[in-house]
Amino acid sequence: MYRVEDRHWWYRGMEAVTRAVLDRRVHSTSRLRILDAGCGTGAAITTYLADYGTVTGCDVHPLALKFCRQRKASRLTFASVSDLPFASAKFDLITSFDVLYERAVSSDLSALREFSRVLVPGGRVLLRLPAYDWLRGQHDKLVHTGRRYTAKLIARLLEESGFAVEHLTYANTFLFPIALVKRLAEKVFPPRDGSSDLALDAGRLNGVLQKILAAEAPLAAGVGLPYGLSVIAVGRKRTP
Ligand SMILES: C[S@@+](CC[C@H](N)C(=O)[O-])C[C@H]1O[C@@H](n2cnc3c(N)ncnc32)[C@H](O)[C@@H]1O
Repeated sequence: MYRVEDRHWWYRGMEAVTRAVLDRRVHSTSRLRILDAGCGTGAAITTYLADYGTVTGCDVHPLALKFCRQRKASRLTFASVSDLPFASAKFDLITSFDVLYERAVSSDLSALREFSRVLVPGGRVLLRLPAYDWLRGQHDKLVHTGRRYTAKLIARLLEESGFAVEHLTYANTFLFPIALVKRLAEKVFPPRDGSSDLALDAGRLNGVLQKILAAEAPLAAGVGLPYGLSVIAVGRKRTP
């Protein structure tokens, strides 16, 4: 991830989509207290979340935190999303990008309840998760997927953990047909090598694919997209 996340079309395109979703709901000048839960190797923290406030990152992988430090992220905690070492009502915004789907997260619902605890009333959670269990492929084996989601399922989990659903959309919609063909082909002809989708070098297409994904940003942040490879949700913690 560290090697590819600065230039791979998927990361750069998703950054455009995520910024658009955030810009609709939070102001970049509001200096929020942000937790990036499951921050990975830190690109989101240092490339764009820092524009919205002071970002703390947490992850259970020591190597991920080491790469975050190489990116000069300074507020880092070795901690699980299921047991956050923070006082209640400490953050205004929690982002969690492609984390709760992991097998290592034994209960997504418990993690969301923990997010709710450390958020101020009215605080927001922004989730991005892989879509549709029937789309499982080789990539999922390599990235330890425990489950994939639908918008409906995420809405239910948010409601059950104390959030009002503010926004729901799929993303990576325009390229969905290509991904579908690839995943179906994998089912018929299982690949022998062990490479994930992120290892795919798109070569000269990298810029084009990035533009196609980024072009979804206004729709994903606005009316929402009806299907796609990822689901994005914004929940707002209910006031007691
Ligand atoms: C697919 S990566 C996503 C990383 C980053 N959020 C991003 O979008 O690039 C999933 C991350 O979740 C972390 N993770 C897995 N289980 C976790 C847990 N229980 N608590 C915190 N982080 C966890 C992994 O170590 C990994 O860094």
